[in-house]
Amino acid sequence: MLELKNLTKRYGERVAVDRLSLCVKRGERFGLLGPNGAGKTTTISMLVGALKPDSGEILFNGEPLSGECDPLKRKIGYVPQELALYEDLTAAENLRFFGAVYGLGSAKLTERVAYGLEVAGLTDRARSRVRAYSGGMKRRLNLAAALLHEPELLVLDEPTVGVDPQSRNAIFEALEKLATEGITLLYTTHYMEEVERLCERIAIMDQGQIVAEGTQAELRELLPTAQKRAITLEADEALLELLKSHGLSWQEATERGGLESVFLHLTGRSLRDA
Ligand SMILES: Nc1ncnc2c1ncn2[C@@H]1O[C@H](COP(=O)(O)OP(=O)(O)OP(=O)(O)O)[C@@H](O)[C@H]1O
Ligand SMILES: [Mg+2]
Repeated sequence: MLELKNLTKRYGERVAVDRLSLCVKRGERFGLLGPNGAGKTTTISMLVGALKPDSGEILFNGEPLSGECDPLKRKIGYVPQELALYEDLTAAENLRFFGAVYGLGSAKLTERVAYGLEVAGLTDRARSRVRAYSGGMKRRLNLAAALLHEPELLVLDEPTVGVDPQSRNAIFEALEKLATEGITLLYTTHYMEEVERLCERIAIMDQGQIVAEGTQAELRELLPTAQKRAITLEADEALLELLKSHGLSWQEATERGGLESVFLHLTGRSLRDA
């Protein structure tokens, strides 16, 4: 469905995205995982037409995507990392505005705004101004705004920043439901546990490049044998008790430790935003 070919973007001397190639299949839940400054937002900005690549190509359903006004873009929904909402408008007014921008007619607009409010769990707060919303409510509305025009591909840039576990779970349940309805997801984050829950296939990005790509099991295979052995060792009784008190089985704990280890192994341990 989506093919990024050799994309490169520089900011002055700094190469933010470096000959990046990536394929996302229709109906897939794809995770783009990378530390701060890896180039995730720059990649997504080119994909949604907000930034022009210095070189490379983006194909959507086999056709080249060019710029912000490309009609193909109507099939893509974009949840930006920075909230894109009008604080002085209510949730319903925000959704009506964005729906109108997408050219939805009056009956369709009313139907889609009601749908968006339901997805965001904001039907009862539809008439409050966004200024008065919590961080989680704003994030949920930010997601709903991307769904109004019934996109085939939903691109999410760190959509759970600053939300509590309840809102995060609500967002994930909404995404899982959308996925079962056939929408394709491209999910960007630096939270390992998010891609573990949501994504079938994952690309790990660092310093503008894809350093590894595959299913969770395939990525775990990339760990050096010694590290792999360390995470499959038998646990002692005390550790098992400790994990149990956190509601975790040994298998769950090693699986979590597994992907985090892969991520740190591939992207290194130094701070990226220092
Ligand atoms: N407008 C800009 N001007 C100059 N440099 C930029 C600009 N935007 C991003 N960069 C730099 O490009 C690199 C990639 O940034 P980008 O925002 O794409 O990373 P990211 O993976 O989205 O990071 P984060 O997890 O912090 O959102 C970083 O080194 C960043 O400092
Ligand atoms: Mg970013």
